Amino acid sequence: MMLLNLDHVAIAVHDLDQALSEYRRRYLIEPLYREVVEDQGVEEAMLAIGGSFLQLIQPLDADSPVGRFLAKRGEGLHHIAYTVADIEVALAHLKAEGARLVDKTPRKGGRGTRIAFVHPQGGNQTLVELVQLPR
Ligand code: CO
Repeated sequence: MMLLNLDHVAIAVHDLDQALSEYRRRYLIEPLYREVVEDQGVEEAMLAIGGSFLQLIQPLDADSPVGRFLAKRGEGLHHIAYTVADIEVALAHLKAEGARLVDKTPRKGGRGTRIAFVHPQGGNQTLVELVQLPR
């Protein structure tokens, strides 16, 4: 498996509008786009920083993975996402290494990407997302 790039760092927020307006004022940065990703139960905004993104995610409802994360831990770092060339190869490698996979097969992410999450347990307590960009 080869990690190609740091695709994004994701921060869970209660209020996406408010978070975006803070980033606009503090860092003079505008979102590239906003998108509802039903599959993950979030609305996300992507802010381009160099070759990577900052992803702000707001849960669509409290009873969702990100909703429960916010209730338990509050706002903050949610996951780190790496770009991979072939997500199936990467998942097979991680499985062989004994990593606990949240997604055993890839699913649909934003921007037409295919994604899969790797459980924080046994991974330095950090949720990792693998991203394969559309060809
Ligand atoms: Co993400």
